[in-house]
Amino acid sequence: MSFPSINPTKTEAWRKLQQHFSEMKKVHMMDLFKDDPARENRMIMEWNNFQVDFSKNRITDKTLSLLTELAEEVKLKEAIQLQFSGEKINKTEDRAVLHMALRDLDNLKPEVKKTLYRMEQFSENIISGNWKGCSGKAITDIVNIGIGGSDLGPKMVTEALSYYKNHLQIHYVSNVDGDHISETLKKLNRETTLFILVSKTFTTQETLANALTIKEWFLEKGNAQDVSKHFVGVSTNIKDATSFGISEENIFPIWDWVGGRFSLWSAVGLSTCCSIGYQHFEELLQGANDMDHHFKEEDYSNNIPVKLALISIWYANFFKAETEAVIPYTQYLEKFVPYLQQAIMESNGKGVDRNGEFVDYQTGTIIWGNVGTNAQHAFFQLLHQGTKLIPVDFIGFSESLHGNKKHHSLLMANFFAQSQALLQGTYEKEVIDNFKSFEGNKPSNTILINKLSPKNLGSIIAMYEHKLFVQGIVWNIFSYDQWGVELGKKLANQALNSD
Ligand code: F6P
Repeated sequence: MSFPSINPTKTEAWRKLQQHFSEMKKVHMMDLFKDDPARENRMIMEWNNFQVDFSKNRITDKTLSLLTELAEEVKLKEAIQLQFSGEKINKTEDRAVLHMALRDLDNLKPEVKKTLYRMEQFSENIISGNWKGCSGKAITDIVNIGIGGSDLGPKMVTEALSYYKNHLQIHYVSNVDGDHISETLKKLNRETTLFILVSKTFTTQETLANALTIKEWFLEKGNAQDVSKHFVGVSTNIKDATSFGISEENIFPIWDWVGGRFSLWSAVGLSTCCSIGYQHFEELLQGANDMDHHFKEEDYSNNIPVKLALISIWYANFFKAETEAVIPYTQYLEKFVPYLQQAIMESNGKGVDRNGEFVDYQTGTIIWGNVGTNAQHAFFQLLHQGTKLIPVDFIGFSESLHGNKKHHSLLMANFFAQSQALLQGTYEKEVIDNFKSFEGNKPSNTILINKLSPKNLGSIIAMYEHKLFVQGIVWNIFSYDQWGVELGKKLANQALNSD
């Protein structure tokens, strides 16, 4: 079996979808609901603690069956199998893509098992206070130094699961902007702070500059032998990490089959593991692993990532929607969108197909959004009455973690009201004043989950990882490289060297 490389626009399904689009482009979803009262109950997927209502989309059963034909014609099933088999599907970098292996808890690769065990021991030592800093005091603060995938994933998860956190304060330094470091350092006591230097390559300019500045700050009052008590590393590059001053036994490995933006499940998640404890970290992995099984094994008709991906393609390539908004109704997920932006846009922002040809169709949706209800008072005006078609994912949780029922009812009332308002607008209402008329017919998915637990968060993240993979397969692009960011890095280095 070879990795498929089929131009989607040349398939029979694409041709049929184009024809179908001409029938669908003017159809109002309110009419679809009126003509088919069972729609709401039929267009829903139930899985574990998830309920995904996709009925508020500009689709019919025919749309779904044509999209499924498209998935079959581009050989999605084969692509999924090849990815999970460890085949080197990241061909432009000659690498396998196996971040799923980091969370396959019943079937762990020996090196992953060993690393998880080390993470467990390490985090327990830090949390219990067994690990002592240079003056014999326990660690109170952890600073993760990294950027991109070595920052966004762990930072998002740590904040998302802060309800489950212990006494440790976790900070993230990413930007090469010195003010970012200065603001962070001014809150810290060097005797009780641990720095985790996270860089898969250990060559990233921002991370190395930040690490050196922080080491200088540490050495202002500390001495070189103490570096190993306050600096640990996560990298594939042991040589450079040890020459920085980190002891080899304090370097956690990561492997070339884990892409940076998919690495939060590895030792890149060490700051998260210290914050919530190993048990919760393992639950996060478990939730992702459950979603992996669902994705690999479930029929397309009830497969959450596949369905979300195909519906998104329907909007991107036929309705020509350029962006998608993701709106989680929980303050804990405030960093979810920036995290998703890297995962999705670094993966699918590609204009050359898997045959090396430039594409003449749209790929890579732009992802944006923020938490509800704040977003309602910021950019929702444009969603409701603007001229652009912007599909939305609403993510909500039935239970509030702190159990504040009054606030949670308010929050969830807004959660449900928004998708309804986008759907119906002022449909069939006589509105005299145009300024107060709403076209409605704005699509959304409603993803309702019982509560924000480590396990459910793992499943949510994995759901989007698989969604982006499916889109990359249909678009016939390589989702796992990121050559696009290299040119900027090179030019910045040239500019520095010419000074
Ligand atoms: O510049 C993009 C990138 O390569 C990301 O893909 C990656 O997550 C980030 O830089 C950081 O890389 P590293 O972990 O090697 O420092």
